[in-house]
Amino acid sequence: MLLLLAMISFAAPTVAQSPLPQIVSKDGRHALLVDGQPFLMLGAQVHNSSNYPGMLPLVWPTIKALDANTVEVPVAWEQVERQEGRFDFSFVDELLKQARANDVRLVLLWFGTWKNTGPSYAPEWVKSDTRRFPRMRTAEGKPHYVLSPHGRATLEADKKAFVALMRHLRQTDAPNTVILVQPQNEIGSYGLTRDHSPEAEQLFRAAVPTELVRGLRKQPGTWTRVFGEFAEQAFASWHMGRYTGEIAAAGKAVKPLPMYVNASLGDAFDAKAAIDTATGGPQWNMIPVWKIAAPHIDVLAPDIYNRDQKAVVAYLDHYARADNALMVPEIGNAIDYARFLWPVLGKGGIGFAPFGMDGSGYSNFPLGAQKLDAEVIEAFASKYRLLRPIARDWARLAFEHPTWGAAKGKDAAAQTHVLGRWKLTTEYEQWEFGEPHWLSPDTPPHPNKGKPVGGAAFIQLGADEFLVAGSDVRLRFALDKPAAGENSQFLSVEEGTFRQGRWQMLRRWNGDQTDYGINLTRPTLLKVRLGTYR
Ligand code: DGJ
Repeated sequence: MLLLLAMISFAAPTVAQSPLPQIVSKDGRHALLVDGQPFLMLGAQVHNSSNYPGMLPLVWPTIKALDANTVEVPVAWEQVERQEGRFDFSFVDELLKQARANDVRLVLLWFGTWKNTGPSYAPEWVKSDTRRFPRMRTAEGKPHYVLSPHGRATLEADKKAFVALMRHLRQTDAPNTVILVQPQNEIGSYGLTRDHSPEAEQLFRAAVPTELVRGLRKQPGTWTRVFGEFAEQAFASWHMGRYTGEIAAAGKAVKPLPMYVNASLGDAFDAKAAIDTATGGPQWNMIPVWKIAAPHIDVLAPDIYNRDQKAVVAYLDHYARADNALMVPEIGNAIDYARFLWPVLGKGGIGFAPFGMDGSGYSNFPLGAQKLDAEVIEAFASKYRLLRPIARDWARLAFEHPTWGAAKGKDAAAQTHVLGRWKLTTEYEQWEFGEPHWLSPDTPPHPNKGKPVGGAAFIQLGADEFLVAGSDVRLRFALDKPAAGENSQFLSVEEGTFRQGRWQMLRRWNGDQTDYGINLTRPTLLKVRLGTYR
C-alpha cells in the first residue's frame, strides 16, 4: 500500500501536459482540436443551478444515458468569490475530478457580469453596490437592471475573478479536461437598447472608433451616421463586446483555452426585429461588430430555442462562417430539437449541446421538454451513441471535406443540395420499401407522420464517395446534370463505423435496402460510393 502511494505521488508531477485545445480553420472549415486532434463535441448543458458538488450525482446518470462526451457546467462569480478577493474553487476541483472519472470533457460557463443579461450571478457585494458597479441608465436617468458595460470597476472586478479561475485551471487541469470556456452568458439588455449614463451619452455622440469603421470598411462618422437604425444596437454590441473581449484576453494570457460567447437569438430573418433581443449581445446581425470588438473570442455561438426548421437553418447559416466556427452550445432538450444535430453537422459544426440535461427535475418547458424522460433522452442519445465512438473521425473528415445536412421541416418536404456532380435529396415520412405512388388509400399513415423527427448529414469524401449519418429519412443520390443517356447507380453502400481511424464494414446494403433510396430508420452510418452507366 505504501509503495503504491509512493508511486502515485511520484507519478503525479510527471502527468504529461496535453496540447492545449484550440480551434483551427482552413478553407472556410473549422475544427476543435482536443489533445491535438479534431474532436466533435457531443455535449450537454446542465441546468443553471446544478453547479454545486451536491448536485453532481444527479448530473452523471443523465450524461451517461445520453452518451455525451462533453458537459457544459456553470461556474458562478458569486460562488467563487463570495467575499471580495477570497476565492474558492472547490466546486471546480470536484467537477474536474468527477468529469475525469466519468470520461467526459468540460466546458465552463462563466456566469459573471451578464447572465441572460442580468447580474443575478454576480456576488452580493457587486449586486448591492450600484455606486461602484453601476447599472445601465434609461434616457430619463433611471437605473435599468443590467450592469453597465461602461462600469470600469465592474469590468476590473469580473476580470480579476475570471483570471483567478483561469489560473486555477492552469494549476489544476494539466490534462485539459476543460476544452472550452464561455465568458458571460447571453450578454445584452432587454427593454433598453443601450446605456444612457453620462459617459455612454458622450461616447454615443462621438465618432465610431476608427478600428471599428476600418474593420467594417465603412466611412467614418457618428454611430447614427455609420449604422443608421442599427446605431444603438451597434453601440451596445461594441461596448459589451469590448468588455467581454478584455476579460477573455486577460484569461487567455493565463491559460489560452478557446473561448466562445453565446447569443440569445432574435428573429431569424429580420435584423430589425432582432434589435430588441438581448441588445448588445452577439446577435447574428452584429457578428462583424463583435468580431472586431472581441478578437480573443474564438466563436460566437447561437442558443437555439426555436423549433421551426426554417428558422433554425437560418440561424445556423448566420453563424457558420469562414471567420466563425459553428457551435451550438445550447439547444432545447425536447425531442423536436434532436434532429437539428444533422444540419449542424452538415454545416461543419464543431459542437452541439441540448440544454437542461440532468436529473435535478427542473424543466424549462415550453422552451425545452416538459419532462426529461427516457424517450426524450433517447432522441439525443441514439444519435450520440452512433457518433461518440467516431467523434474524432467525423470531426477530422468534416474539417477536410465538403459537408451538407438537413432536418425535416413542418411540411415534411424533400430537401436537395448539390455537392460536386451529385444532387443529394432527403425525403421524410416514407416507408422503407417501395415508392409513395404504390400506396393504396388503406395503407396506414407512416409512423413519423407529423412528428418532428428526421434528417441526415453528409461528408463528401471523394468525387463520388459520401459518408452519411442520419435517421428517419430517405436519401436519394442522383447526377445533378446528367449527360444524355447517363444514369447513376450505387457501386456500394456499406454500413459500418470507424475503428482506430479506419473504416470497418458491418455489411453491404443492397436489394430492398437500396432499391427505394436509402432508408435510415434508427441512426446509422453509411459509406456510399456512386457511379454512372450508359
Ligand atoms: C438560455 C440561457 O443561456 C440558459 O442559461 C437558460 O436560462 C435557458 N435560456 C433557459 O432555460
